[in-house]
Amino acid sequence: HHILLLGPPGAGKGTQATKLCETYDLDHVSTGDALRANKDMETEYGTPRSFMEAGELVPDEVVNEVLEAALTEADGYVLDGYPRNLEQVEFLDDATDLDYVFFLDVDRETLVERLTGRRVCTECGENYHVEFAPPEEAGVCDACGGDLHQRDDDEEDVVRERLEVYEENTEPVIEHYRETGDLVDIDGEGAPEDVFERLSDAIESDD
Ligand code: AP5
Ligand code: ZN
Repeated sequence: HHILLLGPPGAGKGTQATKLCETYDLDHVSTGDALRANKDMETEYGTPRSFMEAGELVPDEVVNEVLEAALTEADGYVLDGYPRNLEQVEFLDDATDLDYVFFLDVDRETLVERLTGRRVCTECGENYHVEFAPPEEAGVCDACGGDLHQRDDDEEDVVRERLEVYEENTEPVIEHYRETGDLVDIDGEGAPEDVFERLSDAIESDD
């Protein structure tokens, strides 16, 4: 499968991508994760970090290169975090073909709650939420015992900026896939297991 997961920041793209990859044996291609792993890479525009910490988009030239490298290595994949503007839609069209385009639909207030409460393991990258998915011991990763931290861009003022950037640049992407008839709306509210069931039902009813 070639699966594209669209949705605003905090919609649960990363959470659901991990489950989809385990269940259907796919590779997770996340431009956000790839950029976080190369935060201090020098480019002619500056480092990815400078854009990410401000909640702004990293320039297309940089992200397209990251995407191309990740897609060449993947066979079946779940793509998350890309495309975020119409230029990236064109680039993706030329690079690959998609079997499923899912849009995770979540209320704005829920997004802010999910993002500001997220904690990430500094060792293994596992995601938690202080309220919705807390670790057994506060601040410690269940999986590996590593320390949990808050992503720099999950502080409330940066979260608000990311949501604005999303509305301006990425909502047109959603409209584009709606117009082409490829978009499948998935209710992203409720427990992660329930959202996952909606996604896998949509995949299996199509097989
Ligand atoms: P990126 O890493 O892609 O961040 P994002 O799109 O803002 O998405 P998030 O990772 O914040 O949220 P998510 O939808 O994956 O939700 P998650 O599952 O983690 O991008 C970061 C930055 O990189 C951008 O701002 C930009 O600078 C740059 N960038 C990346 N791609 C780019 C591109 N293509 N072009 C230009 N720049 C780019 O869930 C969030 C929280 O909620 C977690 O704590 C989780 O435990 C919890 N949660 C999840 N699901 C549920 C549920 N159902 N119920 C309760 N809690 C839940
Ligand atoms: Zn860990």
